Amino acid sequence: MQVKAVLLAGGLGTRLHPLTEHLPKPMVPVLGRPWLERLLEDLAKQRVTEAVCALRHEPEAIMDRIGDGESLGLPVRYRIEPAPLGTGGAIRYAAQGIGETFLVFNADVAHQFDLKKLVDFHRERRALVTIGLVALEDVSGYGVVERDDAGRVLRFVEKPEPGEVRSPFVNAGVYVFEPAALEYIPEGREVSVERETFPALLAAGEPVYATVLDGYWSDLGTRERYLRVHRDILAGRWPLPEVGLQPARDRVWQDPSARVHPEAELVPPVWLGPRSVVESGAVVGPWVVLGPGSRIGAGARVQDAVLWEGARVGPGAQLESSVLGRGASVPGGVRCWECLVAPSPATAGR
Ligand code: GTP
Repeated sequence: MQVKAVLLAGGLGTRLHPLTEHLPKPMVPVLGRPWLERLLEDLAKQRVTEAVCALRHEPEAIMDRIGDGESLGLPVRYRIEPAPLGTGGAIRYAAQGIGETFLVFNADVAHQFDLKKLVDFHRERRALVTIGLVALEDVSGYGVVERDDAGRVLRFVEKPEPGEVRSPFVNAGVYVFEPAALEYIPEGREVSVERETFPALLAAGEPVYATVLDGYWSDLGTRERYLRVHRDILAGRWPLPEVGLQPARDRVWQDPSARVHPEAELVPPVWLGPRSVVESGAVVGPWVVLGPGSRIGAGARVQDAVLWEGARVGPGAQLESSVLGRGASVPGGVRCWECLVAPSPATAGR
């Protein structure tokens, strides 16, 4: 396939604050590992030849961890924007010098699908831009795309009102671009590719196509969506290698270094990362992911929750529909429902 990719990874991630106040959203862990690492590894497997990360918010958190990409199997470069450029401006800035067909990803969307099929579709249609689509039951809050039978885009409706559109297909934040499309992105100011550039291409009669991606897709950008991604993984709807390869006892995946007190109860499905600890009398599950080195105190109850590395739940605390940041702690006896708990200041941005 031999294409390069631009990864948009510079947004502020405000909807996941305080978790992403000092951490770029693409770095949020998915089953204990930064999503961006998983994405880059997948791109390498699918023979993408280079990734250019478009950064702005907390760029060091990405550059320090990912480096030149060698350990993940593909060369990674960085472009740090001098001012907020929006999604369109960031694509133009990062794609300078690519000079051939390239892929673009919103790096904060979890997905796995066949990239070659998308690029083949784009080339067969001689499109200037091709937009990857996913079908959603509830399209409100997303950008709906309407197409003709050949896949040519007819109309965009950003964040429609209920009943305003019939199409279930929304922009998945995955595109194929020809370099000539960059001329439709004005330089030196903030430009939204979704709201400004794509409609401008349509208005100019350019060939913009869209095709449905065949595979897993889910946004990571809110507490509910982040938790849903983990429920999908534990339910087998997104077959990550860890869940497939590690032996599970009745949908309890337990790293050999994790410790569970004999008087604790695990309610499947549950994933216990390396060095995680569950103390006596605690009830953990269903739908719980314990990141590396996290700890559930004696008698605590935890369900529908994701704990990042080193997070702690104190004795007797109750946690539900919540996410604990890296090194975060919930004091003993406290009840946390639908919470995003800030990482400990010592670990923020790591
Ligand atoms: P919220 O503040 O919660 O809306 O998140 P966000 O700022 O990340 O915005 P959104 O989810 O709409 O962004 C979509 C994708 O574009 C994400 O992958 C962002 O990282 C990225 N993005 C948004 N704005 C910029 C920008 O100005 N520069 C770059 N490089 N990336 C951006």
